[in-house]
Amino acid sequence: MSENPLQQIEHVTVIGAGAMGSQIAMVCALAGYDTDVVDIAQEAVDRAAEQLHSRMDRDVSKGRRTREDVDAAFERMTFSTDRDECAAQADFVIEAAVEDLTIKRQVFAELDAVCPEHTILATNSSNIVSSRVADATNRPEKVCNVHFFNPALVMKCVEVVPNPATSPETVETAMALARSIGKEPVQLKKEVPGFVANRLLGALRTEALKLYEDGVADYEDIDVAAKTALNHPMGPFELMDMVGIDVVYLIRLAEYEQTGDPASLPAESIREKYEAGEYGRKSGRGWYDYE
Ligand code: CAA
Repeated sequence: MSENPLQQIEHVTVIGAGAMGSQIAMVCALAGYDTDVVDIAQEAVDRAAEQLHSRMDRDVSKGRRTREDVDAAFERMTFSTDRDECAAQADFVIEAAVEDLTIKRQVFAELDAVCPEHTILATNSSNIVSSRVADATNRPEKVCNVHFFNPALVMKCVEVVPNPATSPETVETAMALARSIGKEPVQLKKEVPGFVANRLLGALRTEALKLYEDGVADYEDIDVAAKTALNHPMGPFELMDMVGIDVVYLIRLAEYEQTGDPASLPAESIREKYEAGEYGRKSGRGWYDYE
């Protein structure tokens, strides 16, 4: 293995300018990497830039970061809709687009065609394991999951998950990259949908939804119990609103596609909220009202 696995990593391209993608990119830029945030929609890219600027302004005003560090990070960032132009310069790609296997496979095949030979292609997905996209490329040994947590600017954990074809060098580089951006990476030994943290969270969420749907307690009270009895920073319903009820719904659907087990399907109340467009904070309403 190489002495310095990060030797070749200077340029990171993040695909997807949603909450996850944009914050992952910001973390990379703050750590000194030339970083792109790419999305198909100009509107999404503009919104990401605006939200990151206001988040960083707030951090500066609260003395958490210096103006110099933040300005330098933005200097290193490119907000773009030209994925191929960015990817052609990338040493490491982190895909944080929609949780849709068909789209991800297409994105990986197209990235494989334009990225340099050495580029590692990682997906931030926690539910679509990288072996399901690796075979759409000619470099399965350079494909893995690198999974961040929401909000990515704050949460320390990053799960690095190899597929059976991922090389030890790729894992080593992904772990080193995560450490170099101030995260505490956790290395999985094999693929499992949801990985470690979301499996733990999923068990809690499933139980919380069952208690609510069985009429045992209101969702507000279940949140209170999680916070005051277990010291969780947020209750499971507040957390669903932050992560996005659409994300929760799509994760369960993707899990069902893989397991075929009806127990994997989204809970009834999640399906209703998804169909009503009540996605949580991002849509102004989910379990709670944010208008
Ligand atoms: N983006 C960036 N930074 C944020 C943020 C966000 N959405 N929300 C909060 N912060 C930061 C800010 O710096 C904020 O300070 P300001 O409000 O002064 O700017 C600081 O955190 C403190 O925030 P709050 O006072 O609002 O609340 P808090 O002390 O409870 O911290 C929290 C917020 C860090 C989100 C905390 O509540 C927490 O850790 N919650 C649990 C988060 C969690 O479980 N994440 C995992 C989700 S699962 C997942 O991500 C996996 C997946 O695959 C979907």
